[in-house]
Amino acid sequence: MRYFFIILLFICSCTSNTTEVSNVDSKVQDILSKMTLEEKVGQMAQINLTVIAKGPNKWGSSFPLEIDPKKAKKALVDFKVGSVLNTINNTAQNTETWYKTITEIQKYSIDSTRMKVPVIYGIDAIHGTTYTAGATMFPQQITTAASWNEENAYNMALVCAYETRASGIPWNFSPVLDLGLDPRFPRQFETFGEDPLIVERFGKAMIRGYQGENNDISNKYSVAACMKHFVGYHAVISGKDRTPAYIPDNVLSEYHIEPFKKAIEAGAKTVMINSGLINGVPVHADYNLMINVLRNKLGFEGVILTDWEDIRKLHDRDKVAKNQKEAIKMAINAGIDMSMIPYEYEHFIKNLIALVKEGEVSIERIDDAVMRILKLKFELDLFNNPVTNFEEYEDFGSKKHHQLAYKAASESITLLKNDDNILPLKGNPRILVTGPNADNMRTLNGAWTYSWQGDLTDDFAGDYNTIFEAIRNNFGSSNVKYVPGVTYRKGGNYYDLDEVDISKAVQEARRSDYIVLCLGENTYTEKPGDLNDLNIHKLQTKLAIELSKTGKPIILILNLGRPRLISDIEPLMSAVVNVYLPGNFGADALSDIISGRVNPSGKLPYSYPAYPNSLLPYYYKPSEVQNNAQGAYNYVGEVNNLYEFGYGLSYSDFKYSNFAVSKDTFALSDTINVGVFVTNDSDIDGYETIQVYSSDLYASITPDIKRLRDFSKVHIKAGETKRLSFSIPVSELEFYNIDNVPVVEEGRFKITINDNVKEIYIR
Ligand code: BGC
Repeated sequence: MRYFFIILLFICSCTSNTTEVSNVDSKVQDILSKMTLEEKVGQMAQINLTVIAKGPNKWGSSFPLEIDPKKAKKALVDFKVGSVLNTINNTAQNTETWYKTITEIQKYSIDSTRMKVPVIYGIDAIHGTTYTAGATMFPQQITTAASWNEENAYNMALVCAYETRASGIPWNFSPVLDLGLDPRFPRQFETFGEDPLIVERFGKAMIRGYQGENNDISNKYSVAACMKHFVGYHAVISGKDRTPAYIPDNVLSEYHIEPFKKAIEAGAKTVMINSGLINGVPVHADYNLMINVLRNKLGFEGVILTDWEDIRKLHDRDKVAKNQKEAIKMAINAGIDMSMIPYEYEHFIKNLIALVKEGEVSIERIDDAVMRILKLKFELDLFNNPVTNFEEYEDFGSKKHHQLAYKAASESITLLKNDDNILPLKGNPRILVTGPNADNMRTLNGAWTYSWQGDLTDDFAGDYNTIFEAIRNNFGSSNVKYVPGVTYRKGGNYYDLDEVDISKAVQEARRSDYIVLCLGENTYTEKPGDLNDLNIHKLQTKLAIELSKTGKPIILILNLGRPRLISDIEPLMSAVVNVYLPGNFGADALSDIISGRVNPSGKLPYSYPAYPNSLLPYYYKPSEVQNNAQGAYNYVGEVNNLYEFGYGLSYSDFKYSNFAVSKDTFALSDTINVGVFVTNDSDIDGYETIQVYSSDLYASITPDIKRLRDFSKVHIKAGETKRLSFSIPVSELEFYNIDNVPVVEEGRFKITINDNVKEIYIR
């Protein structure tokens, strides 16, 4: 008998997971089999909150958030819309308002419809819960990548999931898995930078943070993640948002698809499609990318969502569909499950129903899409728990969460220049803090902060410190003066600046020991952030030059979403610190670095260009460097960076020794073991990131000059030596050949850590 029970227990424990899965599947099938075509198509529609909120226009501006009963009944009951997104007035709401709003929405969809299918609410919470007042705002992804520590991405996602659920919302349009390889692109800050391995690792960490350890998103602290934007979104020719890209298949596979592949393996539940075009085909109409690649090759089983209004754009913008109805047919037949319409839902729903009746879209395609959407709703437990209650989330906006955001910022901020070890500042110095980014919470956070473009941050972030305030806190108010010199124009475009008092700043500089000059960018994202000139604004250059004439040492703080060119002024600076977009606690972290309480440890997740016509990631091809060996000509077309990818200084001094690779020759099935000793040859404890690169010396298509294969950030005490070892399977040195097949070709490779190089042979 005892044995029988043990066996029974064993069988139960082995099958419980499968039982749960098949339970969900059978519930989905049961509902699906009872649904009418109208009910099914409604599930595929996602509308903007303003469509059902009181308000005068599409954006619902000037009203407090209230659901309009007439509009809500029409959308949610008559048309059975299955999903809602976004906020109203383009602004953050408090957790209580979110709870009330989503509770009301669910009443329409559950109490007043035949099938009682709850709405799934989705939001963009990309560095913290963007649209909720009081939420913890972390550094943006680009900043987090500079920490070279995935734990920071995980913490951000964990806190963000918690605070998004505290806002009643179960679905987050994050993480961004796009490759941020173009400094001109207005969304580079939303990425983890230019390296595919970093994007892959940090992306996976975020999925784990959002969806929990077992991807159990029924848990009230987890949200469904949405990988975006599949795929190749940033690789455009013009550098501007949503413009054409031309990407060969093997390049797409090598650099862009891989991070999505890893996130799918990690269990990501949903994906959003690239709003742009590749090789002339809008991705929203690309059957090959959505079905052949995403579904069949990568095995993605979750929901495929459009980006904003992107079915419409197949007709309006890209001119590949003769009318809206054809656009809907193209997108749904190419694999779209849910359309972020987000306004004219009647049109979408009626047309899609007609297309099915006319045999232009099969009912099997509709069932397939709705099956995935219902499954997501079951997995999120929305049928039992359609809205989570803010009262059950006592850690919302807590000190505990703030500390994690501070930690991420303090590990990310990157010291790029430190002449004569001017930093940390010693003694009791008089400091002038100046520049348009000096007293500005908005610029510390970037876009997607309490509003889409980040323009409302000052209304919400008054409790946190600007750079000026944080420096004053550390160095005392009598020692620290603030004169802006130049400001961003209130109500202007993100690129508008005004000169206010440069001469006053210069006067104050003369009375100071140090100048902390805070330059960079105002906030932007998407089309409004497109750029015509990568140079930093000329008024900022003017301020820097005028200040430098005082002869006082200048510490340049860069607060920007993408690396704007500073080559003209950089030689005039004694120190340069890149804070990127470090969030609400970034200024505190910066001030602690300036005062020496924190030893900087960030490293660039992108190549910082020196010139507008030299914009290449660190993994460029050998032919980019063709300088004539005899020196007869001096070619300018070299790779010209101001600071290299992976670069960043510390107050400690790290020395590398005893570099070793396990053998000289490896088989394809082998693992390459690499070891190195790192000594902290200074009297201050610090973090160092050890980076392992490989170079394929000869290959059937021209190889990358080098590729990051592994990295590890370690704490090394003053005077201490640590031995680091890395194991890299030979298979990870593969590249996609001309036939888009991943291969490791026989031949010579180099393995590099810092200045240490070892050549190996792979057969
Ligand atoms: C952006 C997406 C975002 C969506 C919903 C789009 O314009 O491209 O990244 O998730 O809007 O707000």
